[in-house]
Amino acid sequence: MKKVFTYVLTLAAFGIILMGCTGNNSSKKKQPLKYEMNMKKIVIGNVDGKQVFEFTLTNKNGVEVKILNYGGIVTQLVTPDKKGAFEDIVLGYDSLQDYINDTPYFGAIVGRYGNRIAKGQFSIDGQTYNLAKNNGPNHLHGGIKGFDKMVWDAEDFIKPEAAGVMLTFLSTDGEEGYPGNLKVKITYTLTNDDELKIDYEAETDKPTVLNLTHHSYFNLKGHGNGDVLDHQMQILADRFTPVDVDLIPTGELKEVESSAMDFRTPASIGSRIAQVEGGYDHNYVLNNSDGNMRLVAKVTEPKTGRLMEVYTDQPGIQFYSGNFLDGSNIGKGGKPYKKHFGFCLETQHFPDSPNHQNFPSVILRPGEKYKTQTVYKFGISE
Ligand code: GLA
Repeated sequence: MKKVFTYVLTLAAFGIILMGCTGNNSSKKKQPLKYEMNMKKIVIGNVDGKQVFEFTLTNKNGVEVKILNYGGIVTQLVTPDKKGAFEDIVLGYDSLQDYINDTPYFGAIVGRYGNRIAKGQFSIDGQTYNLAKNNGPNHLHGGIKGFDKMVWDAEDFIKPEAAGVMLTFLSTDGEEGYPGNLKVKITYTLTNDDELKIDYEAETDKPTVLNLTHHSYFNLKGHGNGDVLDHQMQILADRFTPVDVDLIPTGELKEVESSAMDFRTPASIGSRIAQVEGGYDHNYVLNNSDGNMRLVAKVTEPKTGRLMEVYTDQPGIQFYSGNFLDGSNIGKGGKPYKKHFGFCLETQHFPDSPNHQNFPSVILRPGEKYKTQTVYKFGISE
């Protein structure tokens, strides 16, 4: 990627700086600085007449995340394994152009509506709206040019215990068919507890529907290092939303009990995937959905010991096992991403909610504040 300029924000407070001077002579060459939290910002290009920045956040444990204000994309996430070896555990590309051409939504913020809306149609207060159809007869992930393809305004921040990037964007009335001017704010925060927090906020000036999510593909062995079928998955959900051939929910909330959908106790992704037509690409109805944050999923990779926990206040999560990856996406370092080389855990409201009275409402009205949070927490399994 072309680097036009570089600046580094540092935190030189609270005696955090470990600035090694060689000997007592301060005029001698100083050792490199180390910081509790570190933030770097570079320009990597221009899209739609706006500058695209890459922010690199590094915490005290060396966990590092790179984020673009193009699509709010997480392009890199480096975490240690049980032996302390660092690997980049998200799928992505080496160039901005590849993200512009991308279709699997690698690492992106998805909106206005993450997941599908049947026939791209819904009604609010008796008024019918028609959305762009970009997935067969249906609307998927915000349409032809969704939030994953927009350049967001960006502001970074750094504190002793966390660093982050605040992304803002105005989605205009009628964009992709959605009503209302929608002001969106997404805040990514990397903490010293090895959490990547995503705060979503929005307000509208007309009644609209909204379902924001994040679309990282994880591979806890490291991106491009084979498939994820040996990962142990746990999803704390007694029910899921069965779908038709176009992946539109039938409306039923079905028990996972005695089926390949049951991940209430950890099971490898591959153990029963053959029983699920097409692989996992389903919304789980998360337990204990009262609007508060709770642990909803846990994934471990046996060889590296890497562990990822997902916390959210959302009612659903899409577990997608990378079924449409076919090796045609050449990722970072020239690695081809084949079928099941990554999994997504997209926290969300249920797919096609605007057309199902029995699903929790996704309508946002003027005067209301959309506010939700999801946390991906990284560690080592015992
Ligand atoms: C989501 C969907 C999948 C697929 C991917 C993108 O996770 O549920 O069906 O469309 O996005 O390829």
